[in-house]
Amino acid sequence: MSTAKKEYKRITTKSLVEMKRNGEKIAMLTAYDYTMAKIVDHAGIDIILVGDSASNVMAGHETTLPITLDQMIYHASSVVRAIERCLVVVDLPFGTYQGNSRKALESAIRIMKESGGHAVKLEGGEEIAESVSRILTAGIPVMGHLGLTPQSIYKFGTYTVRAKKEAEANQLKKDAKLLEKLGCFGIVLEKVPAKLAKEVAESINIPVIGIGAGNGVDGQVLVIHDMLGMTHEFNPRFLRRYLDLYTEMNGAFKNYIGDVKSGNFPSDEEQY
Ligand code: KIV
Repeated sequence: MSTAKKEYKRITTKSLVEMKRNGEKIAMLTAYDYTMAKIVDHAGIDIILVGDSASNVMAGHETTLPITLDQMIYHASSVVRAIERCLVVVDLPFGTYQGNSRKALESAIRIMKESGGHAVKLEGGEEIAESVSRILTAGIPVMGHLGLTPQSIYKFGTYTVRAKKEAEANQLKKDAKLLEKLGCFGIVLEKVPAKLAKEVAESINIPVIGIGAGNGVDGQVLVIHDMLGMTHEFNPRFLRRYLDLYTEMNGAFKNYIGDVKSGNFPSDEEQY
């Protein structure tokens, strides 16, 4: 393992695999709009995920299920217009790839053509293998997503940690190897025991990016609204808040409202 950190002008799927090989951790965040994506890209993020969590944090739905392909393309194209360096991965939304590999390919092609994104992400293992393979044969890079897969929330019934039992853990290990064999360039592993996640990451050569999967994986991803502290009601153990933007913004808005109501804004210097 080399300790020298290589500078990447542009992150590609190949650079990510190389980063894993070199022991360099991969930093990934979600973004859904131009302005946020620009800030995140300039900060040096490796991957922006245009996640279907947009359904929650942008549109206010309870789950990720309602978001449509058109809406994902809108978010992804806004992000792509902003970035210069990072890789942009776009979630295929619920109902656009499960159970029909031709439809999966059509959905992935729409994302690539209409948004300019660089790769797609699909949730699931062997049950979506045909869709993953068909998308890959069209030259579209695919990222897998195992563990807690929010599009299956009504099957799970709860957002608690997955794969605590041996049978589910064994299936997850098999699925990770299968996704690698099919040709995926990486896997998101969500909310599973840290020991299992480490084992999975060590068993394959493609990067495993964790969210609630401990520190033994090859990188981390967080939902941007959560790590910025804009969402107060969501408090899982794995979430580290880097700002308390809810409080900061609330204070700014209150100050603005007060200034407008009192006639303090605009001042003489702020008018023509
Ligand atoms: O949609 C999303 O934000 C995701 C992350 C939680 C990995 O899939």
